[in-house]
Amino acid sequence: MSSSSLPSSQKQVHLLKRPGRAPLSTEILNVVTAPLPDVSNLASGHVFLKTHFLSLDPSMRPSMDPSKKSYRPPAPLNETFWAGGVGTVIKSNHPEYKEGELVLSSAFGAQEYADMDVAATQRNGFFYKIDPAKGIEPREYLGGLWGTGLAAYLGMKEIAKVKKGDRVLVSGAAGATGGLAIQIARQLGASYIVGVAGGPGKAKYVVEELGADECIDYREANFEKQIASLSDRPEGGMDVYFDNVGGQTLDAALLAMNPNGRIACCGAISGYGGSYEGLKNSFVIVARRLTLQGYIAIGTFWPQDVYQAAIAQLATWLAEKKIATRFHFYEKVGVENFLDALKALFEGKNWGKMLLQVDPEWKGEGSKSAAK
Ligand SMILES: NC(=O)c1ccc[n+]([C@@H]2O[C@H](COP(=O)([O-])OP(=O)(O)OC[C@H]3O[C@@H](n4cnc5c(N)ncnc54)[C@H](OP(=O)(O)O)[C@@H]3O)[C@@H](O)[C@H]2O)c1
Repeated sequence: MSSSSLPSSQKQVHLLKRPGRAPLSTEILNVVTAPLPDVSNLASGHVFLKTHFLSLDPSMRPSMDPSKKSYRPPAPLNETFWAGGVGTVIKSNHPEYKEGELVLSSAFGAQEYADMDVAATQRNGFFYKIDPAKGIEPREYLGGLWGTGLAAYLGMKEIAKVKKGDRVLVSGAAGATGGLAIQIARQLGASYIVGVAGGPGKAKYVVEELGADECIDYREANFEKQIASLSDRPEGGMDVYFDNVGGQTLDAALLAMNPNGRIACCGAISGYGGSYEGLKNSFVIVARRLTLQGYIAIGTFWPQDVYQAAIAQLATWLAEKKIATRFHFYEKVGVENFLDALKALFEGKNWGKMLLQVDPEWKGEGSKSAAK
């Protein structure tokens, strides 16, 4: 697409109200039509991009509300809601980016087009070219090579320090991060892996496709007992717990741990829409000398060499097909479906990494257009 064939306006999704504990609705997050900026006067160092698809992330929910104490700054009201994505440069006033190049950025926002200051975006997040010659699909840049893959890798390798023979428990196991965490734990030598996921279909998928040895369905009434009793096995309990969920699942997982067990606290999705539940079994942390450590995958929290090694290892495993991201493009195309796609993520409708195709003309692998 050339800049001369651009429309005069675009759809954006704005945060209109802080949700508190209210369910997400169009009163909170809704579509507005806004004029397209004048790209003939693009500021120096800026690029103008067409959004192809966006990542849907659980951390979007707590970022809507300062009271949720998210690791992201609260999203501003009446502005385009944040979202990472993949898109094409339509117009550039930056020496390193040319029209037609595909880029990944954490700063697309939930909109059809984005005017982006490259240096500012790189300081606060991600902006880089997707090189088709590397043979990695563009969508993988929002999966295995993005916050999802990094969260799974850094949590297993650097925080929980998984080693050969470890017995590993993973919650949110059928999701994007959990699914990769299982595969990465196996690559690091875990001998027995137990997933926790919602529903019998997902539990089967976690075992048969992601390679866990068993999976507990947390929608079953006695799921906490099932998790806690993992430590009663003759072969011992769990050495590592990769926690995506928090709340009751974390509380039960404490009882499943072996002495000196390591817990990587990656997320607490069970509390994102309501309240974070307290722990009843916290004394087990003392009694079994457990280590719990939280961490954030994206940002300046990691030494550059650790970060670069993580990206290199993920890229190698992906290219060698030792790990794979399962993608879930939301059923409908268009940024106006952003709210419904986010709601679907919290209802557990996604199997793997949830993406929303924004551009109906995008024909890349996995897109709705490619599937036709
Ligand atoms: N620390 C970091 O840097 C970092 C980076 C990325 C992600 N994360 C965290 O990792 C977790 C997973 O994120 P993701 O992007 O990979 O999402 P995801 O797991 O692909 O999708 C969310 C899944 O969470 C499950 N879920 C929803 N509500 C739940 C509840 N109340 N209790 C238990 N499970 C629930 C659903 O699966 P079921 O059908 O199984 O319920 C849903 O499919 C989140 O907590 C996120 O904040 C952290």
